[in-house]
Amino acid sequence: APAADLAGRHVVVTAGGTREPLDPVRFLGNRSSGKQGYALARTAVARGARVTLIAANTALPAPAGAEVVEVGTALELRAAALEAAGDADAVVMAAAVADFRPAVRADRKIKKRDGEDPEPVTLVRNPDILAELAANRRRGSVVAGFAAETDDVLANGRAKLARKGCDLLVVNRVGEALVFGAEENEAVVIEAEGGETAVPRGTKDEVADRIWDIVGRRLAGAPAP
Ligand code: C5P
Repeated sequence: APAADLAGRHVVVTAGGTREPLDPVRFLGNRSSGKQGYALARTAVARGARVTLIAANTALPAPAGAEVVEVGTALELRAAALEAAGDADAVVMAAAVADFRPAVRADRKIKKRDGEDPEPVTLVRNPDILAELAANRRRGSVVAGFAAETDDVLANGRAKLARKGCDLLVVNRVGEALVFGAEENEAVVIEAEGGETAVPRGTKDEVADRIWDIVGRRLAGAPAP
């Protein structure tokens, strides 16, 4: 049986990918499957936590024992995450959040007209939810993010961790047919104090357990590496 090291803890996990509507039938989206976030939710339940899973556009069965909040857009995800984080001991932002959204959502389906060029799409920035959660975190709570990088993985991850102000960042190397939609993952967890923990290739549940090991160690007040 897994350690109940998260018993009595409330953890919030975001999963999936946001969709930013252009009109009633179209959106800007991404390829996140939600599998790593669901694995985090499932393993946290197994370790005794109360789990809120904020799910953006996944096609996965709800993990038994987790409370699932479904969202569509980045702004919806933000509202759900800020609310759930109010009494959370840990927040893990595994969702792929769109950095930008269309400035306007057309009320009606955008039509093509013969001989006319399409209207350009104007984008506006979405708020950085991870940075906001980190800035407003409860004392003693742990805020974690994910970063997919193609090059200079650790240096870029380190800079991102500092920019976001979170406690730890799970850094994935992408572009090797790994990660998106895959059943396995591998990562390096970097911590604000400088620690780096390599998480070897394994199932997404195995990777999730290594992430909870680190979150659990931080919640227990043990010194960071
Ligand atoms: O900046 P980047 O998108 O690479 O950062 C990834 C991390 O930041 C992920 O944990 C993601 O959930 C989070 N994020 C966010 N709000 C955004 C963009 C990303 O919370 N607008």
